[in-house]
Amino acid sequence: MTEKSSRLPGFYKKTLAERAAEVAQWANLTPEEIATITTNGLQPEQAELMIENVIGTYALPFGVAANFQINGRDYLIPMVVEEPSVVAAISHAAKLIRAGGGFTASTSDPVMIGQIQVLDIPDMDAAIAALEAHKPELLEQADCCDKLMVSLGGGARALEFRPFPDTPVGPMLIVHLHYDCRDAMGANAVNTAVENLAPMIADITGGRTNLRILSNLADQRTATASGVIPAAALERDGYTGTEVARFIAEANAFAVVDPYRAATHNKGIMNGIDAVVIATGNDWRAIEAGAHSYAARNGRYQALTDWHVTENGDLYGEITLPMAVGIVGGATKVHPTAKVAMKLMGIQSAPELAMVLACVGLAQNLAAIKALSTVGIQKGHMRLHARQVAIAAGATNDQVQAIANQLAAEKKINIVRAQELLAELNQR
Ligand code: MEV
Repeated sequence: MTEKSSRLPGFYKKTLAERAAEVAQWANLTPEEIATITTNGLQPEQAELMIENVIGTYALPFGVAANFQINGRDYLIPMVVEEPSVVAAISHAAKLIRAGGGFTASTSDPVMIGQIQVLDIPDMDAAIAALEAHKPELLEQADCCDKLMVSLGGGARALEFRPFPDTPVGPMLIVHLHYDCRDAMGANAVNTAVENLAPMIADITGGRTNLRILSNLADQRTATASGVIPAAALERDGYTGTEVARFIAEANAFAVVDPYRAATHNKGIMNGIDAVVIATGNDWRAIEAGAHSYAARNGRYQALTDWHVTENGDLYGEITLPMAVGIVGGATKVHPTAKVAMKLMGIQSAPELAMVLACVGLAQNLAAIKALSTVGIQKGHMRLHARQVAIAAGATNDQVQAIANQLAAEKKINIVRAQELLAELNQR
């Protein structure tokens, strides 16, 4: 266990500058690194090297979640997100899981799937038999062009042959290449490997290859997180901890059986995961696609989590989902703020980042379903939402909190009332 604690009491009450200074000290950030977050992140000249037709950049709030302890180590979690209450909620949930000893997390090997579509095969059974017979050469061919990946311990691992006899365009064979991407997200490595492999597959099968691309249903590259919350820590607003634990298990069961609820349940999980994925410069669309397709892997879209009451009345939660993230390549090493976000967490490998993300998803979900199954989501949400309404009405500086407080007290959180209050304030 590290000496550094991610418990940051009173952090939220501090000024922005005080919070930045505390985080900088916590993570040994240089003045330049912390300035990357507080003032001068991605510059237009850097952005121009990332995508096409650049005319500027677009900033989002960068928050830090506290209280995370994962496999015995404390982490501060960088979160880039526009939605109020996400960071506060997850910090609260991480504190609850900390009370039960923190998160336990693990990952599979970082193995991605590349797909090759093969059509016009004269004899499907014979083609598959021939491919089986040529597996060693095929795997060697898949490794031909990325010697660096191979030297780092990654590269081609396995092949799978999936015939689809009946499709709208006739029979097709889908070849899966399992490819260990080590610390890379791996899209480029996998796409290169399947493009290199395709001509050999066409030769062996006598067919014609069409698409050659990775699959975002990265079910060979998953991360799992779990945690136990002592029932006593769940006591809230007149409910006993045992009751709250039961309500949370019931909420999870709702999302297991009903896709309409599962969509929202999983959206809440992704509130946290996306925020960290974005902070680290990873591809959040890939993570979203992986999570939702994995949630539907049994033929019905379901919750990504399991929450149940243990024999001694505590609450146990677990999540498993695909986690195709990297710590080398792409924007992770180009975007200056993403580099600082990585340093803030002290991440040493892609699997470590994947584990952190699974814990983030579990904690965000806990916060949401705990609130939903007790006081309701609006209580905390609207208080924070009121600030955004006040800003939208034109309030600045101190006016924002004053108007937000009044809106919350009146339980009338709308822009018309905010404008009235602002006019009153301005008249004084
Ligand atoms: C809102 O962004 C997320 C929630 O709807 C998630 C959930 O319902 O579990 C609160």
